[in-house]
Amino acid sequence: MDQNQLKQQVAQAAIKFVPDDCIVGVGTGSTVNFFIDELAKIKGRIKGAVSSSEASTKRLKEIGIPVLDLNSVGPDEVPVYVDGADEVNHQLHMIKGGGAALTREKIVAAVAQQFICIADSSKYVAMMGKFPLPVEVIPMARSHVARELVKLGGHPEWRMGVTTDNGNIILDVHGLQIAEPVKLEQQINQIVGVVTNGLFAARRADVLLLGTPEGVKEYR
Ligand code: 5RP
Repeated sequence: MDQNQLKQQVAQAAIKFVPDDCIVGVGTGSTVNFFIDELAKIKGRIKGAVSSSEASTKRLKEIGIPVLDLNSVGPDEVPVYVDGADEVNHQLHMIKGGGAALTREKIVAAVAQQFICIADSSKYVAMMGKFPLPVEVIPMARSHVARELVKLGGHPEWRMGVTTDNGNIILDVHGLQIAEPVKLEQQINQIVGVVTNGLFAARRADVLLLGTPEGVKEYR
């Protein structure tokens, strides 16, 4: 089974978490694109979606799923948010933002009642940090934030040519061994000029659907 088949498998498995008549939170990335394909098949039984990126919004609209403004949606109206991850540990903390959509992903995840992470088995790790941690930064603060990230032990690299949907830049922080994800998430968010960072630890996933050659494994 190749990586795309594993991604498709978890995307299909996530559909059972989507209740009838709901507004579903939709993440960003190649795994989520498979999930959007699955949503197309059941679009008659959902009210619509809230989206975490312009890219996912475009795909959802193309298949005829209404995309709602998050500000018009109440706190109990989004029962599930489905998204991928770049790394996920055994406590279901995640690194996200490989697709530069981390801030909107964190916002939609904060509104949703349940976070369903869909990932292939290559993403499941004991210690996060091998995947460089994305940090969204206000452009004028780039150098300041980079210096502060070095003080935390990282090696930040400007993701050249990338502007987020919010008009900001991304610093990818290499060389971190993330033993305390909740603490590091807070520390980085306190640096002036940081919009948010790609650690999803304070709000971790509630369910992980992991695609393996032996089938989908479910962790809580
Ligand atoms: C985008 C993300 C994605 O969820 C993450 O990069 C995983 O992507 P993929 O499913 O393509 O491996 O956080 O900002």
